[in-house]
Amino acid sequence: MDTPRTDARLLDGKAIAAAVRVEVAAGAADFAARAGRPASLGVVLVGDNSASRSYVTGKEKACAECGLASRELALPATASFSDVLAAVHALNADPAVDGILVQLPLPDPRMEQAVIEAIDPAKDVDGFHPLSMGRLLAGLPTFVPCTPLGIMEILARSGIPTRGAHAVIVGRSHIVGRPLSILLSRKPADATVTLCHTATRDLADFTRSADILVAAVGRPLTITADMVRPGATVIDVGVNRIPDPSRPRGYRLVGDIDYPALLPIASAITPVPGGVGPMTITMLLSNTLLAANRRTANP
Ligand code: GUN
Repeated sequence: MDTPRTDARLLDGKAIAAAVRVEVAAGAADFAARAGRPASLGVVLVGDNSASRSYVTGKEKACAECGLASRELALPATASFSDVLAAVHALNADPAVDGILVQLPLPDPRMEQAVIEAIDPAKDVDGFHPLSMGRLLAGLPTFVPCTPLGIMEILARSGIPTRGAHAVIVGRSHIVGRPLSILLSRKPADATVTLCHTATRDLADFTRSADILVAAVGRPLTITADMVRPGATVIDVGVNRIPDPSRPRGYRLVGDIDYPALLPIASAITPVPGGVGPMTITMLLSNTLLAANRRTANP
């Protein structure tokens, strides 16, 4: 007779995010009392990509809920390189703006690197500036990109041990997979990390040996049941829109994993939506407060 399995514990990113936001709100109130102004996030949004618009609206709403101010500079899709740079420079020069976020992708992705490099590193709350990334690699204080930071927070606050664990990350992006590989392998996380990517041979051989499996690929159903060791912790970073005529918006969100199939196999799992996503926005708020406190300490 088969042993009955219980479904994986849900790692409720929404609930963890709510707990972190209470802490951020307290820090934001304290900052505002000391500085005489709220900590503030400046956002540059170029073009009318609907996913980007909705991410930015979500970030601004979250700022307001935690007592942070936000200032949006919206530019048309036709904005030139110098228009976008001018927006970044305006936020760099504004003493009341602590953090700067340029929502990606830009309509012309060839601009992205130069625009990221134009952000004042003291305000780089996304952690995408090469100086921030280099400091992360060197183990120096910096701004850590929000999604990997949110994943570390989910693991820590859910009591999932990382020390000596084999963490397998699928996806080597500069935004998620690569910085996460550094955070998990360094102290105090102390995991052994395998970073898989599109050229990895026999991907399932690696994923099956994971104690902690992170899918950050951007393609639905990349991780299927046969690729996961029973009892593994599975973190799903994917946010994929798939058509669904039964939904008012005409689509629904799915991650990178075969969620229903993994539920009875994993010991803990993040849902989509409501897993990593709410943590990404929350860590942006946390980084903005960190930037504000650092800037007032080192004006
Ligand atoms: N586009 C998708 N994710 C992100 C993010 O974390 N930051 C920015 N700036 N753009 C994004």
